[in-house]
Amino acid sequence: MKNIIDILTGLVSEAFGAAGFDPALGAVTVSGRPELCHFQCNGALPAAKIYKKPPMEIAGSVISHLLNRPEFREVSAAAPGFINITLSDGYIVSILNEMSRDPYLGVPQTGSGKTVVIDYGGPNVAKPLHIGHLRSAVIGESVKRTARALGYNAIGDVHFGDWGTPYGLTIAEYKVRHPDWACFKDDFDPAVDIIPEINEDEMNEIYPFASAKSKEDEEFKVASRQTVVDLQNRKPGIFDLWKKIKDTSVQSVKEIYDRLSVDFDYWYGESDSDGYTAELIERLTEKGLLHESEGAQVVDVSEEGDKISVPPVIVKKSDGSSIYATFDLATIIQREKDFHPDGIWYLTDKRQNLHFTQVFRCAKKAGLVPENTDLRHLGFGTMSGPDGKPFKTRDGGVMTLKSFIEMVDGAALEKLKDSEYIAGDKTEAAHTIGMAALKFGDMQNQPTKDYIFDLDKFLSFDGKTGTYLLYTVTRINSILKKSGTGYEQTPEIGGIFSDGERTLALAIIMSCQSYEKTCSDLAPSALCDSAYQIASAFSGFYRDNRILTEEDPDKKNSWLGLSSLTRRAMIKLLDCLGIGTVENM
Ligand code: ARG
Repeated sequence: MKNIIDILTGLVSEAFGAAGFDPALGAVTVSGRPELCHFQCNGALPAAKIYKKPPMEIAGSVISHLLNRPEFREVSAAAPGFINITLSDGYIVSILNEMSRDPYLGVPQTGSGKTVVIDYGGPNVAKPLHIGHLRSAVIGESVKRTARALGYNAIGDVHFGDWGTPYGLTIAEYKVRHPDWACFKDDFDPAVDIIPEINEDEMNEIYPFASAKSKEDEEFKVASRQTVVDLQNRKPGIFDLWKKIKDTSVQSVKEIYDRLSVDFDYWYGESDSDGYTAELIERLTEKGLLHESEGAQVVDVSEEGDKISVPPVIVKKSDGSSIYATFDLATIIQREKDFHPDGIWYLTDKRQNLHFTQVFRCAKKAGLVPENTDLRHLGFGTMSGPDGKPFKTRDGGVMTLKSFIEMVDGAALEKLKDSEYIAGDKTEAAHTIGMAALKFGDMQNQPTKDYIFDLDKFLSFDGKTGTYLLYTVTRINSILKKSGTGYEQTPEIGGIFSDGERTLALAIIMSCQSYEKTCSDLAPSALCDSAYQIASAFSGFYRDNRILTEEDPDKKNSWLGLSSLTRRAMIKLLDCLGIGTVENM
C-alpha cells in the first residue's frame, strides 16, 4: 500500500501541473496546525517567486483542480499561500479498511528488493556484556525489524570484537596464570593436546586485570603484543585457546541477548574479516592510497572543509598487526562479496563517530563498495543514572547487562505483585513489561542525545511509557474478548461516528510513515511517537464511546473493527521496537 503522504503528493502535484505550474512543487506534509487541517502543501510559496504571481492566487488555481474529489472534505488556501487539506471521513474509512486487509498492515514496501547489513551489538570476547552494550543491541534490533517490515532483506551481524589487542592481553595473562597448559608449548599438537575448559568467572575478570597490568608492567606489555601477532598468525595452541575462549563468550553473550529478544543472523567477528586483509592491502596499494607514517601503514582521509581534523586511518601497525579499522575495512570487503548490500548501517555509541568517518571515507576512496552504497553510522548518546552521570552500580562500578536485566525484571515484578489480572506465576509477564519499559524508555529519545534512566517513571502506567502502551493493548484485548470478536477477526469499519474516532483513525494512518522515518534516521523514536499517539487517541475514543453496550449494531461493529485495527497497528509498532505484549495486566 502506498503511504498517504505519497498519495496526496501525487494528487496535489497533478493539480500543480494542471494549473500550469511545475508538479514538483506539490509536496504534501503533515499539517503543522492539526486543529485547522490534516495535511498541507507549501508549494505555492516558492512557485510565487518562480512565476512572479501572488502565492494566494497560485494556491487558488491549484485548488480549483482539487475540488469535488471524494478524498477531501475540504481543500482551502490560507495566507500567505498554504494549501490546507482535510480528508473526508469516507476516504479515511476506506484507507483503514484497506490497511486492515493489507498483509503489511499499510506499511509501504519501500525496502523491497534491497539488502542492508545492520551491524549492532558489538560485544567483545572475554568481556561480559555490560550496560554500555544495551543501546546498540536495543536500537539495532529495532532498526533491523523495522527494515524488515518495510520489505528490506535486513541482515543482522553482531561483529564480535575478537581479534585485536585485548585478546593478546587476555591470552598473555592466561599464560602467566597457567604456564603448564599445553597450548603454550611450542610443540602444541591440536590432535593430542587438550585445552582445558574455560572458567567463566576467571575469563570475565582476566581482561580488566591484564589491561591494568600492561600499563605498569613493560615486560608483560611486550609479551602481550607478541601474543596478538601470534594470534593473528594463528599460531597453534594460542589460536586453539582463543577459539575455546570465544566459544565460551559467544555462549554466555547469546543467553543475555536472548533475554533481550535480540537476535543475529550472523555471529561473525573481527577475526572473520582476517581472510580479507591481504586483499584490502592489495587494493589500497593498487590505488596508491597506502603510505608509511611512523612505521605504520596509513591512508589519508581528511577532506577539504572538515570542521574537525580527520587523521589518517591506520591499516597496519608497525609490528604488522591489524587493528580496529583494518577489521572494519576488511569486513566491508567481506560483506560486499557475501551480500552486495545497498547499505551497511552501524550502531555504536557516538565516541566512535570519528572512527566510522575514517572507515567510510577510506572504503569509498578505495572503491571497496560502489559509490552509492549507503554506509551509515548512528552514534548514540549515553544512558545516565538519576545523577545525570553515566549509569553506574551503587558502588560506582559498571553494571553487567545480566544484573541490569534482573534489576528491571525485579522492579516490574514488584509492581505487578498485587495485580489480580495475571493468574499464577508473574515472572514472565514481569519480564515482558520490564523490557517494554526499558526499551521504550530508551528509544523514545532522540538516539544521539543522552538520557536519564528512570525506572520508576518508565514503569508507570501513565504517560509516554512502554508500560502504558502494553496496558492499552490489554484494554483492547479485554474489549474484543468481551464482545466475542476474535483477535484474527477484523470487522469492517463502517464510518466515523465521533471526533475521537477520527483522531484515532488519523493516528493509525499516519503511523505508517514512521517505519520509513526510523530507517532513514536510524531512530526508532518515530515508532515510539506513533505508538504513543495511537494509544492516547484510543483512550479518548474509549472514554467517549460505550463500545460494548452500544445498541446500534453497525456502530458497534465498526467500533470493534477500529479497536481491532488499533490493536494490530500497535502490536506491529511494538514488535518493530522489539517489545512483546501481555494478555492482561
Ligand atoms: N566491539 C566494539 C566495541 O566494543 C564495537 C563494534 C562495533 N561495530 C563495528 N563494526 N566496529 O567498541
